[in-house]
Amino acid sequence: MLENMGGLKRTHYCGAFRIADAGSVVTVMGWVQKKRNLGSLMFIDLRDRTGLVQIVLDQSVTPDLFSKAESVRSEFVLAVSGTVRERQSKTDKIATGAVEIVADKLNVLSESDVTPFEIVDETSVNENLRLKYRYLDLRRPTLQNNLYTRFKISSAARHYLDGNGFMEIETPMLGKSSPEGAREYLVPSRVHPTCFYALPQSPQLFKQLLMISGFDRYYQITKCFRDEDLRANRQPEFTQIDLEMSFVEQVEDVLYPVEGLIKNIFKEAAGIDLGAEHFKRLSYKEAMSRYGSDKPDTRFGLELCDVSDIAKNIDFQVFQSALQIDGVIKGSVRAINAKGFASKLSRKDIDGLVEYVKTLGAKGLAWLSYPQGGEIKGSIVKFLTEQNIQDIKERLNFEEGDVLFFAADKDTVVYNTLGGLRLYLGEKYGLIDKNSYDILWVTEFPMFEYSEEEDRFVAVHHPFTAPMDEDLELCQTAPQKARAKAYDIVINGQEAGGGSIRIHRRDIQQKMFEILGFTPEDIQNKFGFFVDAFKYGAPPHGGLALGLDRLVMLITKSDSIKDVIAFPKVQTASCLMTGAPDLVDEKQLNELHVKAYKN
Ligand code: AMO
Ligand code: AMP
Repeated sequence: MLENMGGLKRTHYCGAFRIADAGSVVTVMGWVQKKRNLGSLMFIDLRDRTGLVQIVLDQSVTPDLFSKAESVRSEFVLAVSGTVRERQSKTDKIATGAVEIVADKLNVLSESDVTPFEIVDETSVNENLRLKYRYLDLRRPTLQNNLYTRFKISSAARHYLDGNGFMEIETPMLGKSSPEGAREYLVPSRVHPTCFYALPQSPQLFKQLLMISGFDRYYQITKCFRDEDLRANRQPEFTQIDLEMSFVEQVEDVLYPVEGLIKNIFKEAAGIDLGAEHFKRLSYKEAMSRYGSDKPDTRFGLELCDVSDIAKNIDFQVFQSALQIDGVIKGSVRAINAKGFASKLSRKDIDGLVEYVKTLGAKGLAWLSYPQGGEIKGSIVKFLTEQNIQDIKERLNFEEGDVLFFAADKDTVVYNTLGGLRLYLGEKYGLIDKNSYDILWVTEFPMFEYSEEEDRFVAVHHPFTAPMDEDLELCQTAPQKARAKAYDIVINGQEAGGGSIRIHRRDIQQKMFEILGFTPEDIQNKFGFFVDAFKYGAPPHGGLALGLDRLVMLITKSDSIKDVIAFPKVQTASCLMTGAPDLVDEKQLNELHVKAYKN
């Protein structure tokens, strides 16, 4: 029969007991992890959010209790009182392994059906099944721990920001559609037939308006919504630690305080001291040319090297045609020297790499291998003169034992190819020290990128990002070369946050819109309210947003963003537990003046 707490009151969490507690009379409450009935003795591992403790029942001492406990199964909820005693066979597998609780009272607070899977960390159970029963999945210690760390990270952020003059202000979830980048989630309005709210991709416009309102330093830990293709580090709804500040210069007033914020998060939430030094800073150009990525993992080498000038003298059609791409979009030939890889890579491995880079958009991958004590061989050796080989050896420090990989194409493709190959090799051949944190700023992002699809320039960050003062002129004469006061924080090769100094002058904003091809009507329709606000005294301002979920992933070393969110969505943006999104009643649709149909 079920009992309520039967007058028992919890005194301790299960995971709290140590040898010094022997002799204490205690009451614990939690879930049955495991029960072993040895006939005269029964052991129950009881679990709560702090861990496990062993309960012991002795048939000869408490026969009634013993028979009551015989019906107990895994995941039953119990309240147990008893005395802590030193365990005869201690275990260091659990933190309380030196002691056990000899029960003298036991109440079954709630029974459990057999769960669809066992609640253990080492589980091979299909993820979809776990997500369907997420509330059970969340009982696993790893997930309990991840969510605790998540909470500690947001608390640490709050502590730092509260202590540094930032004020938390909420901004609306039901907003106006704005062309910031990603596809938006729309919410139909009942009151305004045919009109829709958009859920925010970020609080960007509102936080800038708060600066115009004079709040000086704003922050918000808030949900953002983006209807984009999901990846291991992307969710349709995710959380930003969002900041904005007035009267600021990029480095002193934004980057340094954000470094302080990140250091405080690592220290408070994970006990990791990131030291007193400022974070490294790489310009976008350097990040791309050395690592082929704007979010480089600099924990290992395999850096890219531009060999376009040498390639010019190589009579190989692929190289020559890449070098002819020269305009707003440029081409190049670049290479990676995989030092000492000649003995690691078989011909089959190299063929595999060529196939791999094709998935990154490359047409191919040229290579040269220089085995110890052997001759240089490879896919382009037949095109090389003695002089070419000499130049390559010098430029790339190409020695016996090494393998070179060359990519020739538009710069963007070359970077993607070699940047991707670099990560692939680093990961596969264990070149990355997974215990370290590699944190750096990437700065001086381009203002614009040319969209071949749309045949126009688009903003790399967003249209309110200020150009670098010295590149103001370039915005008009050669937009592809103009750099922005925009920065990303990169941790272990992941973009953990990004931001910019904003445009606060109307004339400059106007020019940017023109370059981006917005007509005055577009501007008025899309963000007239925002542009108007700048007529009434906008302070110079800037800010940034950190991806909270990604920070939690990095600190808990989780591979999937789903592991750091209580109720995440899967690849298809659905929630397997609730079944969202789902059909709704015709009546609801009618009220919203919406007709739903399938294409
Ligand atoms: P941005 O678009 O770079 O900037 O976003 C900031 C950070 O948010 C995280 N992030 C995501 N995390 C999980 N799932 C997603 N789908 C996702 N998209 C972004 C990343 C990213 O670095 N308003 C600007 C900030 C600013 O300029 O102040 C913004 O939103 O970690
Ligand atoms: P092919 O003459 O087409 O057989 O190509 C010779 C070598 O060049 C092969 O190793 C291809 O993988 C490689 N290759 C083809 N396209 C490119 C490219 N865009 N960049 C680098 N190598 C390439």
